[in-house]
Amino acid sequence: MNTQTILVVGGTGELGRPVARQLLADGFEVRLLARDVERARTLLGPDVKYFAGDVDNPDAIEPALEGSTGVHVSLRGGSDPDELDHVEHRGTARVAELAARQGISRLTYLSGMLVAEDAEIPGDRAKFRAERAIQQSGVPHTIFRPTYFMETLPRHVQGKLAIVLGRQPHPLHMVAASDFARMVSRSFRTPEAANRRFFVHGPEAITIPDALRMYCSLVEPGKRVVSMPLGFMSVVDTLFMHGQLRSTLQLMRVMQRVDERGDPSEANEVLGAPKTMLRQWCEKQRAPRFEQHSLPH
Ligand SMILES: NC(=O)c1ccc[n+]([C@@H]2O[C@H](COP(=O)([O-])OP(=O)(O)OC[C@H]3O[C@@H](n4cnc5c(N)ncnc54)[C@H](OP(=O)(O)O)[C@@H]3O)[C@@H](O)[C@H]2O)c1
Repeated sequence: MNTQTILVVGGTGELGRPVARQLLADGFEVRLLARDVERARTLLGPDVKYFAGDVDNPDAIEPALEGSTGVHVSLRGGSDPDELDHVEHRGTARVAELAARQGISRLTYLSGMLVAEDAEIPGDRAKFRAERAIQQSGVPHTIFRPTYFMETLPRHVQGKLAIVLGRQPHPLHMVAASDFARMVSRSFRTPEAANRRFFVHGPEAITIPDALRMYCSLVEPGKRVVSMPLGFMSVVDTLFMHGQLRSTLQLMRVMQRVDERGDPSEANEVLGAPKTMLRQWCEKQRAPRFEQHSLPH
């Protein structure tokens, strides 16, 4: 039986929850460091052991790490560059340093495909510094640089529209969070995954506009896919949206220009390739709606 204990940091997040659930399903003991334990319990249920605290606070991280064999970090640090650095870089560096001190045998980290020292997007620069801090901490680690997640598609839907910011002409091998979660879970049991950085791609390439057309036809019928010019949306964001879209617009401006990054073959070989096709993923999103609708009134 598998008795490893894994602490998930950021386990309440969109991409952290599937990892926590997969680890439980694979027989790991799972812990969560959560800022709001009651909310976390509502999301992830009673099988997880919860520790209150945030990544700012070593006194909260230490007891959560004590007795753990591994830790998975899946953080998002807001939209302001200072806050991003504070949470994603410094928060991750703190976890890595404490993990190294406690002899944790593996730290896995959710990074991103555009991460670079001189990246245009502040979050990608923060993640680069986080990756470097992990490498320098000495804790055995596996860094994941996934492409666009299928889970991001619903965020494009606003009212009756599914909005593409810019033209987004580049095909992306979108990946399902459940496939990513299986790879993370497997990495904790795979010695060859130690001290490696893996690019993660899904099985088929599709542009964001085409993916949204499929998503809408299967999950959100009646929604119309429209492309909004980036310059126009920047003006709308400044005048009417208090800059809420700034980081998304930055990301979309870069993605409009550059191709998908990375070669997933090492990840596929060591951890098993993602298999979920976009159509299958969309059909799964639809299933709970049918269950809901078929409930007796
Ligand atoms: N979407 C994509 O296609 C994609 C692709 C590659 C990489 N990524 C990256 O994946 C990461 C995670 O994304 P997501 O969608 O899962 O984000 P999310 O849903 O916003 O979740 C972020 C998590 O970080 C936690 N958190 C934030 N500040 C914290 C702090 N100070 N201390 C402790 N926990 C804190 C949040 O906890 P609370 O519940 O307490 O708020 C939450 O659990 C992001 O960095 C994103 O850039 C995304």
